[in-house]
Amino acid sequence: MGNLVADLEAFRGKRVLITGHTGFKGSWLSLWLHLHGAEVFGFALPPEGESAHFSALQLDERIDHTVGDIRNESQLASIFDRAQPEAVFHLAAQALVRRSYRDPIETFSTNVTGSLNVLECVRHSDSVKALVFVTSDKCYLNQERQAGYSEDDKLGGHDPYSASKAAAELAFATYNASFFATKSNFGAASVRAGNVIGGGDWSEDRIIPDCIRALRANDAIVLRKPQATRPWQHVLEPLSGYVTIGAGLFQNPSKVNGSWNFGPPENAVHTVHEVAEKCVEHWGSGSIEIQSNPNDPHEASLLQLNCEKAHAQLGWNPRWGFERTLQETVSWYRSVVGGANVFNTTQQQIKEYEESGQ
Ligand SMILES: NC(=O)c1ccc[n+]([C@@H]2O[C@H](COP(=O)([O-])OP(=O)(O)OC[C@H]3O[C@@H](n4cnc5c(N)ncnc54)[C@H](O)[C@@H]3O)[C@@H](O)[C@H]2O)c1
Repeated sequence: MGNLVADLEAFRGKRVLITGHTGFKGSWLSLWLHLHGAEVFGFALPPEGESAHFSALQLDERIDHTVGDIRNESQLASIFDRAQPEAVFHLAAQALVRRSYRDPIETFSTNVTGSLNVLECVRHSDSVKALVFVTSDKCYLNQERQAGYSEDDKLGGHDPYSASKAAAELAFATYNASFFATKSNFGAASVRAGNVIGGGDWSEDRIIPDCIRALRANDAIVLRKPQATRPWQHVLEPLSGYVTIGAGLFQNPSKVNGSWNFGPPENAVHTVHEVAEKCVEHWGSGSIEIQSNPNDPHEASLLQLNCEKAHAQLGWNPRWGFERTLQETVSWYRSVVGGANVFNTTQQQIKEYEESGQ
């Protein structure tokens, strides 16, 4: 097992720019690096919804918070000028598959053109030493196979979201080969994580927020594709991978440069139905209803990642199995819905996660 706390401490006193810091993963990452003494600058659209994790954590008072659009080159360039970041974690994206069917142009413009703007800013920056470029497990051409996808597998995408992430990967590979290879003291990596769950996600059309909304309202949890499998993991798992990559890029860029998968063990295959069942079990009550609609837009059924590279070369491994992941996730929502302080609840889970790998 790599030394996660040492990797987090590698950011102490460093200027770190996180795009997408108002979102689900970005809010956890911003807080985590802030707790380890990093000087965090965030750049994103405003947080969505009153209960956004970002707002509940009062991150606007804890880190340097800028509202802006990655599609706007000059807005993005000005945060790079002001922050002079040493590390960049690029998370900003239109991240929802079903929304990508409703608005493919927004999805491609944000995930491809916006990401290109980030690559351009990094290319022209003298301060950036490490770029962690976040795409997705969905960047791989899905062949509905049991075996997990490895970093060298073919890219592609049926739905606009997946295709936009595959396109972002191609743009990243081009910049890495054409421009970044000649930058001294610099490394860049693209990271592809599985389906992330955890407290603080209130997005539309995602399994956990949908379950929690139904359980709170005493409604049945409605599932569209109960037998679909995903590489489920707690939000802190891929973020620990991103941090490991970021620290590695500072220390040994040539070793870490490239692309990396971060997901649960390949044999830990769990369906949407099992996730919903665990939500009901840990919530203490609730029911499940299947409502498959043949007219629903296409979504992949089988999706797993092969994370052997991160395991063998970085010593990275997931710390929480499926059971613990669901237990911690539902417990976060249970506590917060019951009135617990969001900052304390999130900070406590971060502490437990760090300790559970020791
Ligand atoms: N959540 C998952 O299961 C999952 C899985 C694999 C990969 N990812 C990737 O991880 C990253 C973060 O995902 P998330 O779940 O936190 O998503 P999210 O929807 O919760 O957050 C998205 C963030 O991007 C920002 N953003 C969107 N469009 C923007 C724009 N035009 N300009 C500036 N900021 C913009 C939003 O303001 C928000 O801060 C994304 O790149 C996503 O594709 C997520």
